[in-house]
This record gives sequence, C-alpha cells and structure tokens, in this order.
Amino acid sequence: MGKGSGFGKVILFGEHFVVHGVPGIVSAIDSSTDAEVKKIEKGLVIKDERKAAKGYAEEKRLQQIESIERMLKTMGLDPKLPLNIWVGGSLPGFSGLGASAASSVAIARAIAEELSLNLSDEKINQIAYEAEKAYAGNPSGIDNTAATYGGLMWFKKNTAGGPDSVERLRIRKPVEIVIGSTGKVANTKAMVAGVAERKKKNPEKYDPIFKQAENLTHAGRKALESYDLKKLGGLMNENHRLLQEIGVSSKELDLLVDLARKHGAFGAKLTGGGGGGCMTALTPGKELQEKVAAAIKKEGYEVLKTKIGIEKI
Ligand code: MEV
Repeated sequence: MGKGSGFGKVILFGEHFVVHGVPGIVSAIDSSTDAEVKKIEKGLVIKDERKAAKGYAEEKRLQQIESIERMLKTMGLDPKLPLNIWVGGSLPGFSGLGASAASSVAIARAIAEELSLNLSDEKINQIAYEAEKAYAGNPSGIDNTAATYGGLMWFKKNTAGGPDSVERLRIRKPVEIVIGSTGKVANTKAMVAGVAERKKKNPEKYDPIFKQAENLTHAGRKALESYDLKKLGGLMNENHRLLQEIGVSSKELDLLVDLARKHGAFGAKLTGGGGGGCMTALTPGKELQEKVAAAIKKEGYEVLKTKIGIEKI
C-alpha cells in the first residue's frame, strides 16, 4: 500500500487575481489530507472519510474522479488504472482551504509509493496542478504549490506558460488565525470562470481593481516581513473589499468577516474561491484567537484555529 499527504492552506492575499498573473501570498496550515492507495483487479474504489461540509463529497465526486484520471495520465499511466483509494486526515473538506489540491498531492504521492515511482516534489506538484484543472478549470497553481511544499509563500503564475515564480517567505513568529466556514460548498470552477468572464466584459472596472490587488500583495509582503500585524490586518480588509467588488464574496462570508472584525480581529477576508467556503481572520495571541473563534461558533458556524508562518510545515 502507498501513502501520501498534502497540506491545507489559507490565501492571505490575491485569490482569483492570482489566476491572471497577479502575485499572491499563501500559507500552509497545520492540517493535512492523507491518502492510501492500493492496486486492485478492476474499477476505482474511493473511500472518502474526510470530515466535510454537508454535500461536499457529493458536489466534488465527479471532479474527484476526473482529477484522479488526470493524475494517472500525467504520470504516464492508464487513466483507468484500477485502484482502491482512501482519503482522510485532519483537513476538513470545507471549500477554500485547498482541500482539493491537498487531496491531489496526497493521492499522487500515495500512487507513486504504491507503484514504486520515485517522484520529486516538483513532479508531484506538476501532477497535482493537472489534477486541479478538474476542480478549478483554470487554476493558478497556488493551491497545489502550497499543498506540496508547505510553508509561507509568495506565488506568481507565469501566464505565458513558463515556470511560476515561487519564493518562500519567513516571518519572525507564527501568527494565530481563525478560519470560519460558511458551511456552503462552492464550485471553484464556476467562481474562477465567472471572474474571467466579468473581467473580459468590463475591463474599465476590472483592470484598476486588479492593479490595486497587485499593490496590496506587495504591501502585504512588506507588512509580513516587518511583522507589522496591524498593517497586515488592514491590508487583508482591503483585499476583502476588492474580492467583494469582483463578485466572489457572499452574504455569509461578509457576515463572518464583520463578526470577526467586531470582536477585535486585526483584519478579516474571505479565503480561497469564495461564493461560500471559508473566511480567515488575523487574531494575534491565543486570547484574541479564542474570542473571535467563540463569536463565530456562537452564531452556529464551524471554526478552525491555526497559525500562519509555521516553520516546519
Ligand atoms: C482557490 O483557492 C484560489 C483561486 O485563486 C483559484 C486558483 O488560484 O487556482 C480562486
């Protein structure tokens, strides 16, 4: 049997914009998806035991099958290779946390181990990127890169098709964050396609927003590196406003973002594809983290308490 894992992530700056070549900043979190793979005689058996938002497994089922076929093809194998696949781990199947990319990385690593293919992380990342196309249509590559390598990263897609620009960022000390889940499963593919369509139709509105998003990611990097957390939070708020303007927030996301800010979060924004899924709040210190998490929980939403910038992940 082969085994593998992939990290979950939060995007601090630049989701959606990153698909079009704007830089983004992403941090892996200390939750991962694990997979086990065994060759069998025939068929594809998937046992998905991840804790997930209601309807997540059903909504993603066909995309998951397509992603596995894409992976096998990219590995130079029969896309219909009979496999028994188990998926689990500590990362919940909430939209926005990179669960699809984490599972693709985990499954690719497990397949490689089961078939004794000695694949580098670079190759695993490339395989997971191809798999992400099943979930996101035209992914930037930020999620699979975070899922493969972990850590805190600067990511800029090379929209001309060459190698992306990926840099590891380091901060003085990890910072507490709260992730709140709306409980709504989002279709990343539809969200990404929607932004591309609106951008194409209305460049007068969208081009300046994309420029602002680029400036924000640069400012966010400075704030992270100088450990100016008040500034960082303010920039995350700004990023949320831009995401609202491009039409990817939702009533529930805005509600959770407002709630987190009202309870003292330094900043809060949706994270990932939006349209449901998750938000994240910057809550330095255990006490503030607890306070914001409790406020979100009290309204009946699920939370995850973690940190950004953890060195070992
Ligand atoms: C999803 O986590 C992030 C998006 O920007 C899609 C992508 O970059 O592939 C919405």
